[in-house]
Amino acid sequence: MADLRTRYLGLDLRSPLVASSSPLTGSLDGLRRLEAAGAGAVVLPSLFEEELAEDPGPVGADSQAGQPDQAGYGAGPAAYLSLVEQAKQHLSIPVIASLNGTSRGGWVRHAARLEQAGADALELNIYYVSSRPGLSGGEVEGNYLDVVRAVRQAIGIPLAVKLSPYFSSLANLAGQLVEAGANGLVLFNRFYQPDLDIEALQVLPALDLSSSAELRLPLRWIAILHRRWGVSLAASTGVHTATDVVKVLLAGADVAMMTSALLHNGPDHLRPVEMRLRDWMDRHRYETVDQLRGRLSQRSVPDPAAFERANYIKTLASRTAPSR
Ligand SMILES: Cc1cc2nc3c(=O)[nH]c(=O)nc-3n(C[C@H](O)[C@H](O)[C@H](O)COP(=O)(O)O)c2cc1C
Repeated sequence: MADLRTRYLGLDLRSPLVASSSPLTGSLDGLRRLEAAGAGAVVLPSLFEEELAEDPGPVGADSQAGQPDQAGYGAGPAAYLSLVEQAKQHLSIPVIASLNGTSRGGWVRHAARLEQAGADALELNIYYVSSRPGLSGGEVEGNYLDVVRAVRQAIGIPLAVKLSPYFSSLANLAGQLVEAGANGLVLFNRFYQPDLDIEALQVLPALDLSSSAELRLPLRWIAILHRRWGVSLAASTGVHTATDVVKVLLAGADVAMMTSALLHNGPDHLRPVEMRLRDWMDRHRYETVDQLRGRLSQRSVPDPAAFERANYIKTLASRTAPSR
């Protein structure tokens, strides 16, 4: 039977299927179900910078303040620390805590508390919508790097940075993030984009789940960044099926993260995905994930430029206009 073991952020995982940050990973019950269904690791929901204005005190000092099953969004730092502790107590797979913030500040110290609570690694989710015309792209990126350096200094556990795809020179920024202390990159986060209600004339928050069609963007960047700087790569956005998992592994990902598919189908969705991944590996005579990882990365394919083309005349021409 195919060996699914992989390494991510220096951690040994029994499978490359990872449950990314979502309400499903915000309760002990959800985490246990994900582990039982075969998740190789779990990423807890983010603790947000806004929630960290007040100092939570040492780990365990306020464990009554939040029960682990209620540690979802906005439950506060004490409940979050309690969830990390409980998860570590009850799960045998790695538990990755998540912090979401955009500025350097006191909240960064909280990273150390997540480490003390037992988190195996930390995922730092930085997303800043830069709407100030006076703020340059370079300044925005400089701010990202400052946050990463500050968090890196606060912890000894591995650090992954979860990014959005909206940068002018992503490969350059990725290298700088690694230099600033990131051990892994999660490509990519997916944010709600506001919509408009044309009857009520209001701006609406809108959060739709992803589909496999959205896999192409992380696929391209995983393929481009594979085996650079020794950084771990996690594919996030659009991983729904075993086919999607095979694609991101072939592109060079260390793990395939899922949220929408698990929210839509429940944690047990991991079982058929794992089974089909094994089937595919058997049919193609791959015994380990390492053997197939990166086989279609940019460095491994005969036409590396295929990953860089934005407009390819043959592709564009293949879409003919309707005859009418
Ligand atoms: C309801 C919901 C809540 C999420 N919460 C978080 C979060 O707290 N922190 C985070 O980094 N990403 C969060 N995400 C983003 C997911 O972890 C994931 O990166 C994104 O949904 C793309 O993956 P997918 O296509 O598998 O859904 C959330 C997504 C959804 C749908």
